[in-house]
Amino acid sequence: MEGIELSIFDQKRRIDSDELERFISDNKMHLDTILSGESAYADSLGWMDPDQWAGEEALSGIIAKANEVRESSDVFVLIGVGGSNQAARAAISAFQKSGPEILYAGNNLSPHYMNRLLEHLEGKSVYLNVIAKNFETLEPGICFRILRQYLEKRYGAQAAGRIAVTGTRGSSLNRLADDNGYTFFCFPEDIGGRYSALSDVGLFPMAVAGIDIADMVQGAKAMSEKLHSTPASENMALKYAACRNLLLKKGYCLEMLACFEPRFQFFGKWWTQLFAESEGKDDKGLFPVTVSYSEDLHSIGQYVQLGRKMIFETFLDVIDKDSSLPIQSDDKKDYFDYLNCKDLWDINKAALNATIDAHSEGGIPCLKISVPRLDEFYFGQLIYMFEFACYLSGKILGVNPFDQPGVEDYKINMFKRLGKV
Ligand code: PA5
Repeated sequence: MEGIELSIFDQKRRIDSDELERFISDNKMHLDTILSGESAYADSLGWMDPDQWAGEEALSGIIAKANEVRESSDVFVLIGVGGSNQAARAAISAFQKSGPEILYAGNNLSPHYMNRLLEHLEGKSVYLNVIAKNFETLEPGICFRILRQYLEKRYGAQAAGRIAVTGTRGSSLNRLADDNGYTFFCFPEDIGGRYSALSDVGLFPMAVAGIDIADMVQGAKAMSEKLHSTPASENMALKYAACRNLLLKKGYCLEMLACFEPRFQFFGKWWTQLFAESEGKDDKGLFPVTVSYSEDLHSIGQYVQLGRKMIFETFLDVIDKDSSLPIQSDDKKDYFDYLNCKDLWDINKAALNATIDAHSEGGIPCLKISVPRLDEFYFGQLIYMFEFACYLSGKILGVNPFDQPGVEDYKINMFKRLGKV
């Protein structure tokens, strides 16, 4: 297999191939507009050229600081919420093999969680990275204050050397860093949180976890070149965006990203955030959810197979076997002998293919995105492909894929309740 591929399993022909072809051709203009560099969204498109914010110089600065943190920390606390931490968390949970324990904070307001975290930090060498584009967000703001005070109490003047902040230039977070001697990383102004994986925002915490961020950026660049040069009729991002929108028009209003690999668990959360915040507006949009199969086949699988026909699935499948566990024969009678000598990898694959067959036969349209290997290079490709497809899909849907006015509404109410002036 040469690269990432998209295939469709749709035994009840919910998407007719001629209809899909027509839909792709009717929406080709959106791809053309994107490729010609759209001025309307110029202030949100910094992620489109990975070299702009993740060039060689940027990467070597990130890696140097990350190595320093790796050498001297037991625990690295990543403070951020939404787009500010999802991509790093997705990559770290998929790939971390060494380095400090990484904990997440500033993504909830639970005092119980914070107290447990503070207890856990005792006696360990702690470093912090707070990430916020708009340093008014309550969760990271309050959490940073609590953990900053904790570090100051423990380390005195040395605390500053243990704090890295990632914010926009000129922001209050930038001033806080300058005034107190914290390391400063740049949150690009022309990239929104959920598109920020391949900038300082996502890459610094990933590098602390020992992830090969250069390979990840290479992957994103390879995908960028592919999507910029492949004609509309074969362009995977356009095909994916077209399938989603066509299915939505036919009443399939919920897309489920389904993975049989637990390493993708937090990638699913990143993907959910990307599409929910980008498309859920103006009374439109697919509702994106993620499931962890095979576990969720024993719960949600029932609904998918026989419940209301409003769901379609997008499966993520890894092709190269990167882990193997043959099932040994056993002299106790447990009635699982039909699995003797079979590899757990192949059993998992059988479950995936059986699920696609059953769901597709049951009238659930199934898309499958096959990834040659689960490594940094292809992870970078997936991130770029989904971001590009999300931009395209938002345009087909007729919404602005880069704003989030709905998220602001609750904040206004909450700030009022909390007496913010
Ligand atoms: O994608 C987005 O824009 C949002 O999810 C933000 O990343 C999230 O709300 C956090 O915002 P901030 O970094 O300003 O704290």
